Amino acid sequence: MKIAIGSDHAGYALKKTVYAWLEKQGHEVNDMGTWSEESVDYPDYARKVAEAVARGEQDQGVLLCGTGVGVSIVANKVRGIRAALVFSPDIASLARQHNNANIMCFPARFTDGETIEKSLDNWFAAEFEGGRHERRVAKIEL
Ligand code: RB5
Repeated sequence: MKIAIGSDHAGYALKKTVYAWLEKQGHEVNDMGTWSEESVDYPDYARKVAEAVARGEQDQGVLLCGTGVGVSIVANKVRGIRAALVFSPDIASLARQHNNANIMCFPARFTDGETIEKSLDNWFAAEFEGGRHERRVAKIEL
């Protein structure tokens, strides 16, 4: 899969870990920054990732900031994006099964590489359940 990944300075260290892990899993990873711990503004990176996914250039997206809240707010303003704030592997499964989430947002200051990797594993393994969830997801874009 083509995965876009982005973070601000608070998510930078974990982004490197997640980037390497995704590549090892055989994904084509597109790193949209930031590329250091110098302070930056999370909307700049979240918007880049979200727009690339919304345009269909990337299959899925991964975003990180300190809390995951900032990047998820920004990503969800882009039409067609369903960004989930994920803090456990179970949430990741449900975000796919019920919400058909296309971007995973992680709280870099409140999680760790192992939790993120397990969450991504679950997200990739899960399938959107459709049915009543299809109707609800359709209502998001009204
Ligand atoms: C940066 O200090 C922090 O505000 C940012 O990473 C994020 O948590 C915003 O939601």
